[in-house]
Amino acid sequence: MEPFLKDKIILITGGTSRLGQAFVRKAAHQGARVFFTYFKATAVAKDLEQTGAQGFPLDLADSQAIECFAALFRRKVEQLDVLIHNAAATADALIEKMSEKEWDDVLRVNLKAPFYLTQKLLPLLMRREKKGVSHHFPKMVTDPFFPAKVFTMVSRAGLSGLAGASNYAASKGGLIAMTKTLAKELGRKKMLVNAVNPGFMQSSMTASVPEKILQKNLEESPLKTFSDPEEVAEFLIFLSSDSMRQVTGQVFHFEPRPF
Ligand SMILES: NC(=O)c1ccc[n+]([C@@H]2O[C@H](COP(=O)([O-])OP(=O)(O)OC[C@H]3O[C@@H](n4cnc5c(N)ncnc54)[C@H](OP(=O)(O)O)[C@@H]3O)[C@@H](O)[C@H]2O)c1
Repeated sequence: MEPFLKDKIILITGGTSRLGQAFVRKAAHQGARVFFTYFKATAVAKDLEQTGAQGFPLDLADSQAIECFAALFRRKVEQLDVLIHNAAATADALIEKMSEKEWDDVLRVNLKAPFYLTQKLLPLLMRREKKGVSHHFPKMVTDPFFPAKVFTMVSRAGLSGLAGASNYAASKGGLIAMTKTLAKELGRKKMLVNAVNPGFMQSSMTASVPEKILQKNLEESPLKTFSDPEEVAEFLIFLSSDSMRQVTGQVFHFEPRPF
């Protein structure tokens, strides 16, 4: 059987994140040409490149850097099949103590960068070759057109708020609204835009969450577990594959708790 993502060209931001690493490894294993961005984790990026994926250092808070990266990337690949906005920043504080810089930095990385990077890479996403394979329903594939896909990684915070993280919650709420809007705008260009809420994962983002809150999260979870980045990455592999061709404007939740 052919690899699930054979020859797909994929770009994921924050490839060095817990979830990003799992995705890059799986996507490369499934035959994709994988590109990823990273910020500070140079050693992790070098290690990930052993998979055949290629990493690019990029500060997503810097619009000019995004523009330069996009120009370079447009020269590098002939088209882009999947773009995943996964990188995210946090700078937690209650509103009385949150500085304007903390607000702006988080909004820049988590919300402005997905907008700007998508806009700058649109020409690549719109350049479609008619190629693809559906492993699940080979006989049902009558339309030879395989849509480009954009995914945003969102959070429960964006729907129900998160005390001490109004910047992060606002960025993720905005990202959900942007995802649904782009699904409407880009549908006519045969592009799918969806969001995934990976649920509470143990990663550098949640490393400083106090033990008491971790335990509360576990207690509220019907499954009494944290989300597994490997499982979320597997789901993203499925969504990136040609088996998913008609779903757009959705938010998929790995959140085992009610909102
Ligand atoms: N962890 C959770 O419980 C949880 C829950 C809901 C949603 N999510 C979402 O899921 C996604 C992955 O989360 P994670 O926990 O796996 O992340 P993580 O391990 O904390 O990693 C964050 C990533 O963002 C990158 N990054 C941070 N600031 C950046 C900047 N200024 N420019 C470019 N890249 C920057 C980091 O790059 P370097 O490492 O190279 O510095 C890293 O790759 C995020 O969108 C997050 O919001 C996570």
